[in-house]
Formats: sequence, C-alpha cells, structure tokens
Amino acid sequence: MSETPETYDLVVIGSGPGGYVCAIRAAQLGLKTACIEKDKTLGGTCLNVGCIPSKALLSVSEKYEQAAHQFAGLGIDVGTPKADLGKMMAHKDKVVAANTQGIAFLFKKNKVTHIVGTGAVKGAGVVEVNGKTINAKNIVIATGSESTPLKGIDVDEKQIVTSTGALSLEKVPKTLAVIGGGVIGLEMGTVWQRLGAKVTVIEFLDRILPGMDGELSKEAKKILAKQGMEFKLSAKVTAAKTAKGKVTLTLEPAAGGMPGEAGKNNNPETLEVETVLLAIGRRPYTQGLGLDKAGVKVDNRGRIEIDDHFQTNVKGIYAIGDVVRGAMLAHKAEDEGVVVAEIIAGQTGHINYDNIPGVVYTFPEVASVGATEEQLKEKGIAYKSGKFPFMANGRARAMAATDGFVKILADAKTDRVLGCHIIGPEAGTLIAEVVAVMEFGGAAEDIARTCHAHPTLNETVKEAALAVDGRPIHI
Ligand code: NAI
Repeated sequence: MSETPETYDLVVIGSGPGGYVCAIRAAQLGLKTACIEKDKTLGGTCLNVGCIPSKALLSVSEKYEQAAHQFAGLGIDVGTPKADLGKMMAHKDKVVAANTQGIAFLFKKNKVTHIVGTGAVKGAGVVEVNGKTINAKNIVIATGSESTPLKGIDVDEKQIVTSTGALSLEKVPKTLAVIGGGVIGLEMGTVWQRLGAKVTVIEFLDRILPGMDGELSKEAKKILAKQGMEFKLSAKVTAAKTAKGKVTLTLEPAAGGMPGEAGKNNNPETLEVETVLLAIGRRPYTQGLGLDKAGVKVDNRGRIEIDDHFQTNVKGIYAIGDVVRGAMLAHKAEDEGVVVAEIIAGQTGHINYDNIPGVVYTFPEVASVGATEEQLKEKGIAYKSGKFPFMANGRARAMAATDGFVKILADAKTDRVLGCHIIGPEAGTLIAEVVAVMEFGGAAEDIARTCHAHPTLNETVKEAALAVDGRPIHI
C-alpha cells in the first residue's frame, strides 16, 4: 500500500530571502508550511554565497585598508599591518554559519517544516522531492538566480571565478580582472584590491553601475579610480586563455569604442591577469523545477511569468524574488515573500516597486532610491535638485570620510521627493530616511523641517533637502 502523501497549505521551494521569509510569514498566519532547500544550509545565495559573506569580507578588508593607509595620518601607529587571509575567511564562515543557523532556528520557532532536497513542481497542488510526492494547496517558487555565463569564458571557480569563487580565493591574486562594472564587480573588486590585488574592471557600457543615476556612477568611478581601480569601459572580453598561474583575456571594443590600445586602432587588446571575476549579471535559476511539465510559463529571459498577485499561469503556483521580473535584490524578494504569503492567507498585500533602495557596499557606499535624473528627463517630469557634499558635514570631516554627496530630486511643482542618490559614508543607512519619507509621499520640505541630530552624517540629507529650495545653511 502506498504511503498517503503529506499535505501542506503551502510549500515554498527555495530558502533564500524570498523563500524563507515567505515560509515564516505564512506560518505566522497559521498556514501549515514546508520549505524545500537543495543545499545543506538554509538562506540561499544571499546568506551562503552572496550578501552576507561579501559584507563580512568588505568589513574586514576595510579595517585592514584603514590600518594600512589611514591610521598613521590619524595618529595611530600600528606599523605595517599583515593580512591573515585564513582568519579573514574564518570570520566570514562564522558569520555565514550564524546566519544560516539563525534561519533553521526561526523555522523551528515558527513550525515551518524544513525539507532537504531538490523540489520539482508536478502540477497544481503537487510537489515532488526525494522521490516522494507532497500535496501542496499552494506552491511558491523562490529558487533565485545564478551567475550569467559568458561565451568564451570557462568558469572553474579557481582562476576564473563567479561571485561564489571570489568569496573563497585561497590567496590574494597579484592581478584581478573583473568582467562587469556592476554591483558584484565593484564590491568584490574592492575586497581584493584592499588586500593587495591590482584590479582592472572591464565594462561593456561606457559607464559603471548602469541603471543608477549618471552623476552617482561618475562620482563612484572617480573615487574608485583614486583608490587604484582601473577601468576599461566600452570594452568586451571575447576570449580567455588559461595557463598555469595566469589567464590571458582578449578585449575588444564594444559599441562606442574603447580607450587604450584597442581603442586607437580598433584591434583586440590582451590583458594578462592571475584571476578573473565574471560578474555580468545573474539569470533566473529554474533548473530541475520541471516548469515545462507543470505548464508554468517563462518569458524570453527565463523569468517565471506572474500576475500582479505573484500567481503564475497555473492556479495555486506562485513565484517571487530573482526568478521573476524586477530588481534582483534580497530585500525586494523578502517583501514579495511577505506579500505573497499574505495573499495566499486571504489578505491583501502591496509593494511599492518605485521605492526600493539599491546599495553598493564599496567605500564610500553608493545608495539610490526612486527616479534618476535621466529617468525624470526622459519622462519629461519637471524637477528640482538639491545637492550637499559630505565635505561640508562636520561629522564626515571628523571621520575623515568626506568623499561624495547627497542628491535629492523633488517634483518642481509639488516638492514631493521623487528620488535620492547618495555616495558617501554609510550611504546605505542614510537612504532609509528618504525611503520612509517617499513611502509616505513626503516632500523635500518635510525632510528639511525635520530635526536632525548634530553632529551626524544624516545632516547631509537635511541639507540636500534644504538645497532643493536653494537654502542650504552649511554651503
Ligand atoms: P549587474 O547587473 O549589477 O552588473 C553587470 C555589469 O556587467 C553591467 O554593468 C553590465 O553592463 C556589464 N556587462 C554585461 N555584459 C558584459 C560583457 N559581456 N562584458 C563586460 N561587461 C558586461 O550584475 P552583477 O554585478 O553581476 O550582480 C548581479 C545581481 O546581483 C544584480 O542584480 C545586483 O543588483 C545583485 N547584487 C546586489 C548586491 C547589493 O545589493 N549590494 C550585491 C551583489 C549583487
């Protein structure tokens, strides 16, 4: 006699920030919930090989960098600091373990059943895992994304790595080429540059951080170049030849030409480096899910198609996070996880996609929310811009961290805040104030009239808001 399949109100496939948050919220709402995860630990890319370990390495490498290059100027003599890569990696592993075990604890606390295995969707209401069938009144696919491959570049996670390999290099490479001047490239490039690598970023477009406000991206490039990062813009890598201890990349001009030798005569240029990081974006991960058989539609970029309520074309099957449209960001996936759980439980949910902040954790940090100047111009929206430099902020001076600025964009007529773009110390934390104001439909004047503690970095946000009306005090 065959075993009666277990029945759940909700089965979530994938335990990244989208999936695990969805499972916890669903359990809070009284749904009998299981979460299937193929990896040994919970937390998906973000906790295991993404946001969390990269921030651990960014944090320790920043301290090292300060000890090596800043301390002496501030009157702290520590001699020449030595980086112990093994210990740095041990710190990173400890942080990852604490976070992933934290999710296991939260699952227990909320009575979410954790199933280890690769889940496949058999159709509406049915999931298969480890050869067993599970009945699921609702299914949420939250399988995330994987690094996008590039033709001619064979990733071995040793000499040619993705973000995963870049988190575990065995030694600091003398030279590192980063393909892709996006978030991963700049963050991981920063880590290895601080530890001693000569980093060259090769970017297809004529600017880094595409999608972010143009002025922000220009300033980020200027500051990172000052730190020693080299940029080859409007360039593409067409081949990589690997030999012992080195990789030779072939670079060709992309649309718009390329500075340097290849740009002058339009001939391919070669670049010899010890290690290559491929970071040209991520693509939805749906391998082994059986979407075809289940009849779940994907779009031409491999993203699962969903309606406004995260439901796929198959009733009762939902999808959230990197595997669907929109920004590939952990916090976007988390919010979708909460909302889809609430919708499944019969409530209504809402996400304001125009108000999702994006942060790049370089030093200084780069943070952005809402419309860029380029977008406002394109849409023909009349706006006012207020800018304030960290150089004029007392706390930033005290911290010896004066690079960058805050820029607030507000509607010319109504003064409503439409966007904010920050490059500077703790930009990722500072932007939260503006996100909150924007969520309430607030105006630049609301920020300007709000009391900001002195001396704080937050005063730069207030001053930028004052500058929207042409009345900053400290500049
Ligand atoms: P990305 O989309 O941020 O940047 C990829 C870059 O590669 C772009 O500048 C693009 O123009 C360039 N590119 C594309 N094809 C190329 C080629 N053939 N040659 C040279 N350059 C090329 O993608 P990235 O950095 O790989 O990150 C993946 C995702 O992960 C992003 O959606 C990002 O938002 C997310 N992420 C977010 C983080 C954060 O919030 N701090 C940290 C790391 C990743």
